[in-house]
Amino acid sequence: MRAAVINEYGTSQELHVTDVPKPEIDTHDVLIHVHAAGINPMDTKARDGGMKLVLSNDFPKTLGGECAGVVMEVGLMITDLQVGDRVIASLGPEGGGYADYVVAKRKSVVRIPDEVSFVQASAVPVAALTALQALRDKGHLRPGDQVLINGASGGVGTFAVQIARLLSGQVTAVCGADNAVLALQLGADHVIDHDTVDFTKQSERYNIIFDAVGKSNYDECKNVLTEDGIYVTTLPSPKQILDQVVTIFQSQKAESLLVSFKQEDAIWLLKQMAEGKLQTVVDRTYPLDELAQAHDYSESGNVKGKLILKLIDD
Ligand SMILES: NC(=O)c1ccc[n+]([C@@H]2O[C@H](COP(=O)([O-])OP(=O)(O)OC[C@H]3O[C@@H](n4cnc5c(N)ncnc54)[C@H](OP(=O)(O)O)[C@@H]3O)[C@@H](O)[C@H]2O)c1
Repeated sequence: MRAAVINEYGTSQELHVTDVPKPEIDTHDVLIHVHAAGINPMDTKARDGGMKLVLSNDFPKTLGGECAGVVMEVGLMITDLQVGDRVIASLGPEGGGYADYVVAKRKSVVRIPDEVSFVQASAVPVAALTALQALRDKGHLRPGDQVLINGASGGVGTFAVQIARLLSGQVTAVCGADNAVLALQLGADHVIDHDTVDFTKQSERYNIIFDAVGKSNYDECKNVLTEDGIYVTTLPSPKQILDQVVTIFQSQKAESLLVSFKQEDAIWLLKQMAEGKLQTVVDRTYPLDELAQAHDYSESGNVKGKLILKLIDD
């Protein structure tokens, strides 16, 4: 089978498409024929060695932390999935999704409703789950809350704007001027252009500030949080961890999120997609042999929504 592998950590030029053996399943595993795979900053960090402390030392490595595809084989202990089922899978930083076939653990796999395409579904395990868990579990979003989303036009941010609205928040999106229309189309009530307005210096107060791209910090944001407001970031610095401990005893809180795959969350997100209430904003799709360009674009910081590796035209 084809896979995009790296033989050592490095730039996008380390990504090579090559033939590798098809992986084999164990009793609790599922073999998936990959149709689409989300491309995430986690993958580029894994590729350049930024995550080597949490990755195995095995090379060649096939990256790709999430995918959508069709079940080809199920392990002996699996009774509730069948060959031919359309599924998504969370593969974690160790990856495997940049390939024709991947093995996933049953607990990391969920069926896709018929109404949802592989491309749309492929971004659920990382970006969509991150947005949901940040707003609901860390931000404790309640109907009517004022929610500010920094990085609203990125992979996580485009989901966060929509999910905050689905949870009945009032949304202020912070993004570049070019992406203001997109943020409004996704449901934002207000848009702030980060190049001309510093949201941390304005008079508005927010119940939740979700920094989807980790460009701010708690100290800068606490003056624009309500008295019991919560700051949530996807990129915790050592100072942020300290702030989280200190604010345990305060009414304003600092929080960070490490996404964890929960089947019930993925099912809820896919249901919203099937009902037309949530969409994956797709900036570009790429074939396997253009993954290096996809990684370069991801690292430019200018992605609008999601980049998706498309292995099969559906
Ligand atoms: N902790 C976790 O579990 C977890 C999970 C998922 C992702 N993450 C991390 O979250 C971060 C975001 O992921 P992503 O997939 O959303 O990334 P992304 O799609 O690559 O984000 C790109 C977006 O960042 C925006 N941006 C750049 N500079 C900005 C600034 N100064 N202020 C506001 N927005 C700015 C750009 O929008 P404009 O051009 O409009 O400025 C662009 O749309 C990554 O670092 C990723 O590793 C963490």
